[in-house]
Amino acid sequence: MEFKDKIAIITGAASGIGHATAMSMSEKGATIIAVDLNEVAGAKLVEQIIEKGGKAEFIKTNVADWEVMKAVHGKVITDYGRIDIAINNAGIGNIPTPMIHTSNEDWDQVMAINASGVFYGMKLQVEQMLKQGGGVIVNTASVAGLRGLPRSIAYAASKHAVVGMTKTASMEYAKKNIRINAICPAFTVTALFTPEMMDGLKEGLSEKLKKTIPMNRFGDVQEIADAIMWLCSDKASFVNGIALPLDGGMTA
Ligand SMILES: NC(=O)c1ccc[n+]([C@@H]2O[C@H](COP(=O)([O-])OP(=O)(O)OC[C@H]3O[C@@H](n4cnc5c(N)ncnc54)[C@H](O)[C@@H]3O)[C@@H](O)[C@H]2O)c1
Repeated sequence: MEFKDKIAIITGAASGIGHATAMSMSEKGATIIAVDLNEVAGAKLVEQIIEKGGKAEFIKTNVADWEVMKAVHGKVITDYGRIDIAINNAGIGNIPTPMIHTSNEDWDQVMAINASGVFYGMKLQVEQMLKQGGGVIVNTASVAGLRGLPRSIAYAASKHAVVGMTKTASMEYAKKNIRINAICPAFTVTALFTPEMMDGLKEGLSEKLKKTIPMNRFGDVQEIADAIMWLCSDKASFVNGIALPLDGGMTA
C-alpha cells in the first residue's frame, strides 16, 4: 500500500487507533494532518513522524465544534490544496450506565463528538473532494454500531449513527469518485479501553468481555490501523459503503 504525496487528515490522531494509523500511513508516504484536542500528545506524534522521515502537522481541534472544524479544513485546503484521505476517528466512550440513569448531558456530549464530529468532518471533506475530483473517507464506528451495547446507550446510538451516515454518504457520492467506509472494531487496547480499566469497574470484567470475542483476545491498534489503511488504498478500489467488523468474530 502506497500513499506517496497523499494529504491525509486524521481526527483523534494523538492516541490509540488514530495514532497507529497516522504512524503507519506516514511511513507509506502520506502527509499527515493530525487533528485532536490533546496538544501535548499531538505534538509528540508529529515529532515521532518527523524523526522517522515523514511529514506531519498537528492542529488542535474539537471535532464537535462546527466553526472550528470549518476553520481547520479551510486551513488544510489553503495550505495543502487538497484532502485525499480523511479518517474521522475521534471519539469518546462512556462509563457503563443503565439507560435510565444516563444523563442528558452525557448523551449530548457523546453524540456531539462521536456523531456530529463525523458529520461535520464528512461534510467539509466531501465538499473539497467534489472540487478536486475524488477522495476516500474512513469513519471509525464500533461493533456498538452494529448491535446493542447494554449500559452504553449514547455510545451505541452514536456509532449506529456513524454507520448510517457512512452508508448514506457513500451512496450519494459514489459516482463522484469518492469512497466512504466505516470500521467497526471490538474491544481494542487503547487509552479508551484497557483490561485494567474494566477490572477497576468490576472484578473479572475484562475476562468476561474477552470471552464475548470468539478469538478470545482483544484487538491491537495495529490490526485496526492496517484495516483502515487497506480501505484507504487502491487495493480497496471497489469497496464502498461498508461497515467492516474488526472484532475477532464477535458479530459473526
Ligand atoms: N478502543 C476500543 O476498544 C474501540 C472499539 C471500537 C471503536 N473505538 C473507536 O475508535 C476511535 C478511537 O478510539 P481509541 O480507542 O483509539 O481511543 P483513544 O482515547 O486512545 O483515542 C481517541 C482520541 O480522540 C481524541 N478526542 C476525543 N474527543 C475529541 C474531540 N472532541 N475532538 C478532537 N479529538 C478528540 C482524544 O484526545 C484521543 O486522542 C473512537 O471513535 C472509538 O469510539 C474504539
